[in-house]
Amino acid sequence: MKNYKAHLTHPIFSTLRKVVEEQNLEAYVIGGFVRDLILNRDVKDIDVVVVGDGIEMAHAVAKKASLGKVKFFKNFGTAMVRYDGYEIEFVGARKESYSRDSRKPIVESGTLQDDQLRRDFTINALALSLMPANFGELIDPFNGIEDLDSGLIRTPTNPETTYSDDPLRMMRAIRFATQLNFTIDKDSLRAIRKMKDRINIVSQERVTTELNKIVAAPKPSVGFKLLFDTGLLQIIFPELCLLHGVEEKNGVRHKDNFYHTLKVLDNVASMSENLWLRWAAILHDIAKPATKRFNDKAGWTFHGHEDKGARMVPKIFKRLKLPLDAKMKFVQKLVALHLRPIALTKEEATDSAIRRLLFDAGEDIDDLMTLCKCDITSKNEAKVKRFLSNYEMVKEKLVEVEEKDRIRNWQPPISGEEIMKTFGIKPCKEVGVLKSRIKDAILDGHISNDHNEAFTLMVEIGKELGLTPNS
Ligand code: CTP
Repeated sequence: MKNYKAHLTHPIFSTLRKVVEEQNLEAYVIGGFVRDLILNRDVKDIDVVVVGDGIEMAHAVAKKASLGKVKFFKNFGTAMVRYDGYEIEFVGARKESYSRDSRKPIVESGTLQDDQLRRDFTINALALSLMPANFGELIDPFNGIEDLDSGLIRTPTNPETTYSDDPLRMMRAIRFATQLNFTIDKDSLRAIRKMKDRINIVSQERVTTELNKIVAAPKPSVGFKLLFDTGLLQIIFPELCLLHGVEEKNGVRHKDNFYHTLKVLDNVASMSENLWLRWAAILHDIAKPATKRFNDKAGWTFHGHEDKGARMVPKIFKRLKLPLDAKMKFVQKLVALHLRPIALTKEEATDSAIRRLLFDAGEDIDDLMTLCKCDITSKNEAKVKRFLSNYEMVKEKLVEVEEKDRIRNWQPPISGEEIMKTFGIKPCKEVGVLKSRIKDAILDGHISNDHNEAFTLMVEIGKELGLTPNS
């Protein structure tokens, strides 16, 4: 039997061991903590399973180590303590089965093996003994350690039983496969395909948590392809599935925008950890199916997909229960602007166009440029070369213009307040007109970004509008 006591060196484990010894308990560390310990992944959540009362053990541990409060949930028989940045959760070993008509589990206390059998995957059912007689010994009735070595996601029992007990596990299988670069066992995949519709009984919050873990993984396309191939994506994210497929007319084909989007997503993931930038990649072409047209001259076009896409973002975020705050606004903004930098050719990339881009993107300009670069996925080398050279040119000009004009976090030099004060007027349409004409004059380079010049222009435009400054 393998022993991992050399891994259990943290003082937490000697405290747990002492309590187990003094109280003559049967207890194990179990689940994700053991998996991640063996994989050398950093982990701060420790699950302890006790054959008996988890809450009692938590109190004994808290007392022994003089820890703070024990948080416990009597109904679930679970308790949690914090120790040195770790969260230790205690739970009584249980048998569990879910009745088909109700989503409430029927929980009965059970043995360690019962508890291991009701878990989702063999790699998540590994347990290490906390008893002095065999401290650190691996208890692995389903060969989880082999699956961990060979990179296999497999259920401890019949997959249909495991997925039916909690259909979210179908997404968890795909999430672990994506995070760990593992393969899902064939029988499991078959069961997921068969039972995919059961995902509908799971709350959107739980589904989205798993989806976000896939998006945050090093190569998110792995998960999205599995979601698509099993049919889960069609249920949880139909808009994205509409991007799938290629149409041909008069011998002209467009690219498959689903696989293109996944490539862009992987590209972004290789450059940035920002979850919301990754969401912008997922959604950048979301309105292509809705805007797709064919004409004999231009072939396939997707005119306006960036604006329509930006308008689709709130509805998608709302349904997926993603945040509707500044994070959503950021995604919307990037979707709306994603064509702008690359669309500028050498002739068009005037200082004024660059200033407008800087003004519209504001502090998100670097993220926008990252998305743009990642959006260049064509197989046509000449096209890639041309786009990349445009991209580099725009990037250089952005630096140049920003150094000169400081537009990035720019507020026009004259506020509405100052306009009202100067002309002795109350809030009215003219204030808006003055503000936007001053802004345009600066962005277009007619005047420089300077208070005096802006003030002079304000007085001039004021005259046109029939306003006279207070003397
Ligand atoms: N578990 C399960 N079925 C679920 C969720 C969890 O069987 N639907 C079990 C697994 O044994 C899992 C453990 O509960 O290892 C802890 O679950 P959780 O903290 O959600 O996941 P981890 O496996 O720890 O992984 P992560 O922290 O990456 O979510």
